[in-house]
Amino acid sequence: MNIDKLLPDNIKKLKPYVAGKTIAEVKKEYGLERISKLASNENRLGCSSKVKDAVLESLKEIQDYPDPIAGKLRRAIADRNGVKESEVILAAGSESIISILCRTFFKHDDNAVTANATFVGFFVQAGVRGIELKKISVTDNYCFDVDGILNAIDEKTKMVYLANPNNPTGTYLKADEYKKLVDSIPKHVLLIADEAYYEYAAEVKDYLPAIDYRNENVIILRTFSKAYGLAGFRIGYAIADEKLITEMLKTKLTFEPTAPAQAAAHAAYGDNVFLNRSIEVVKKGRQRLYDFFDAHSVKYEKSISNSVMMILNSEEEAINFTQKMLEQGVILRRINAFGLPECVRITIGTPSEMDHFEESFKQIFKQ
Ligand SMILES: Cc1ncc(COP(=O)(O)O)c(C=O)c1O
Repeated sequence: MNIDKLLPDNIKKLKPYVAGKTIAEVKKEYGLERISKLASNENRLGCSSKVKDAVLESLKEIQDYPDPIAGKLRRAIADRNGVKESEVILAAGSESIISILCRTFFKHDDNAVTANATFVGFFVQAGVRGIELKKISVTDNYCFDVDGILNAIDEKTKMVYLANPNNPTGTYLKADEYKKLVDSIPKHVLLIADEAYYEYAAEVKDYLPAIDYRNENVIILRTFSKAYGLAGFRIGYAIADEKLITEMLKTKLTFEPTAPAQAAAHAAYGDNVFLNRSIEVVKKGRQRLYDFFDAHSVKYEKSISNSVMMILNSEEEAINFTQKMLEQGVILRRINAFGLPECVRITIGTPSEMDHFEESFKQIFKQ
């Protein structure tokens, strides 16, 4: 079989996803007991204790297809955000929503504008559709360059993708910059405001959640994978004008998200105690990491999400550092695929995981 002949050129160009190592793999490979997985921006506290019972209850009907619009959860999300139910869509993670956006709105010669250093999932899903991506360099302080993005828009631009707060940088657009983007973007262009880390950012003074300042071309993405700790269930949502949601529902895989995922997310959404604890642990852990980096003269970027980006001198240094940390049982994420080969992303973990990070760092640098 000639696989080359089977494939369209845009699929040939895609690289397979390289997953980070799992805890079990690192334990086995390096013969270690203590592992701290600070690589994938997951919630190191776990998830709400209310999730388990809700999921067990959902198993009683597991032989039936789930509610295709996740009505109960959709209602809860609409109520909390002050929008109509018809303005909300749920799917198997916000990555699935990105895929839905690409399936629904792109025609083959459209393009999309985004940053060179942002969530790789958008690069991949646009690539699956063979869409030209205009990747505008982030600014010197690793923020989205609003003027650069606006200047790059042309008559074939269908989408601008913005992660706010951004991953992997943890940076964000200040309220006035965000307003400028929303006000200036042509109405035929969709602005995708990916707010996967919204819950960590919501209280930051000059962060403006997209829900508070939007036009009908703005699509907001949120997820249950981060502050709610449900990454394994795969569930996220979008809020947008109902005309857009109606079209997106046509290309969504009918029965995503699964019934247990819907039940888990509904239970987690009602547990503010867990949510606030997650946010608090991240806030404290970030400050602790800044203090540690300052004390050890490490360059980093301040973040309002659940990770902090370390800036090393070269890709080689980043490779060596992550490898040495791995050998100590601390799994970190190089972010070359996100466009920043000299940087390493550290997810904020529990206090004991942050101890492990600091001890391993000191061990490596003998400080
Ligand atoms: C900015 C951003 N958007 C979306 C996602 C994907 O989240 P989900 O688990 O909901 O697919 C991530 C995950 O890391 C992310 O960082």
